Amino acid sequence: MNDSLQYPTNIQQFREDLLSWFEHEQRDLPWRKDSDPYKVWVSEVMLQQTRVDTVIPYYERFLKKFPTIEKFAEADDESILKVWEGLGYYSRVRNLHSATKEVVESYGGIVPDTLEEISKLKGVGPYTAGAILSIAYGKPEPAVDGNVMRVLSRILLIREDIAKPSTRKIFEKAVYELIDKKNPSYFNQALMELGALICTPTSPACLLCPVREHCLAFQEGVAQELPVKTRKKSTKQVNWLTAVLKTSDERFLIRKRPDQGLLAKLWEFPGIEVNGRFSSNRQILTGYFENEYELELELESGSFTRVDHVFSHLKWTIDVFAGTLKGSVQETKNLRLVTRDQLEEYAFPVPHQKIWQTYKVEYL
Ligand code: ADE
Repeated sequence: MNDSLQYPTNIQQFREDLLSWFEHEQRDLPWRKDSDPYKVWVSEVMLQQTRVDTVIPYYERFLKKFPTIEKFAEADDESILKVWEGLGYYSRVRNLHSATKEVVESYGGIVPDTLEEISKLKGVGPYTAGAILSIAYGKPEPAVDGNVMRVLSRILLIREDIAKPSTRKIFEKAVYELIDKKNPSYFNQALMELGALICTPTSPACLLCPVREHCLAFQEGVAQELPVKTRKKSTKQVNWLTAVLKTSDERFLIRKRPDQGLLAKLWEFPGIEVNGRFSSNRQILTGYFENEYELELELESGSFTRVDHVFSHLKWTIDVFAGTLKGSVQETKNLRLVTRDQLEEYAFPVPHQKIWQTYKVEYL
């Protein structure tokens, strides 16, 4: 661990330069309109692993549907997944839901304002805790995510590997030293904003940077070489054979994914994971539906589309067949026949939304 950090010689000037820049240059973002802890929480959870431009419409829709923490806490699983549909990393919204229930039940709907209490909430890690405490409550706590690590690795010339979980602590320690006690909210947001607008990953705009005089990497001419980040191992390939199956009365077969694991509780067109490629995809899929669900069906001879989707740790390739159901279908809680309109009320993962869009164009 690097416990001999070198700080800017004039920390107070560094704070002033950073905050003055943020006051003038910050983007007009919807979650910057008020500092209600619930709203800050929602925005920070959405912004983890997701770009600002993508988040904005989701954030607006979410707060229209769930304007208070109580409204969200009392919502059912289906509607919380539906409002998150397409944002990915769905455990974020499941955890947020559990945690807000806890806040309503145990804290009278007031988001706790201490590190100890807030950190006990489901899904609230050190970043989210620090972001809420600083932005909503004005507490001098660090909110260190990948962007902040990039910015500070340059300003302070920190060469630790930011892919290692233990490295975050080094940066948190640095923020405790550097943070502006008078305005922790702006200080943390300014670091994030600098990372988004100026101190970008591949070609930082050092000549426009408000704190370049305080930046050790700029002085050494090594900004582009930082942060040090080891490559994660490559993603695993998973192949699927999937079908959009229609009954004679124009209903479609959908199934719910298991309660645990990837894309838990989302709905999908039924299919089977296969290893390798086969010459008889159509027979494999027909056989699967017969054995697994006792379905009688007729699939078209070839697939009508192939959908690729990359998740954080794996890649799906889905070959999709269109087909018709002949006999009766035994519906269950997790296997349903739905009309076209009903189908669009369910939350589907992005690759299955793509399947549906293509199917509609080709067949409906
Ligand atoms: N990324 C993470 N939190 C953010 C925020 N509050 N504003 C802009 N970008 C962010």
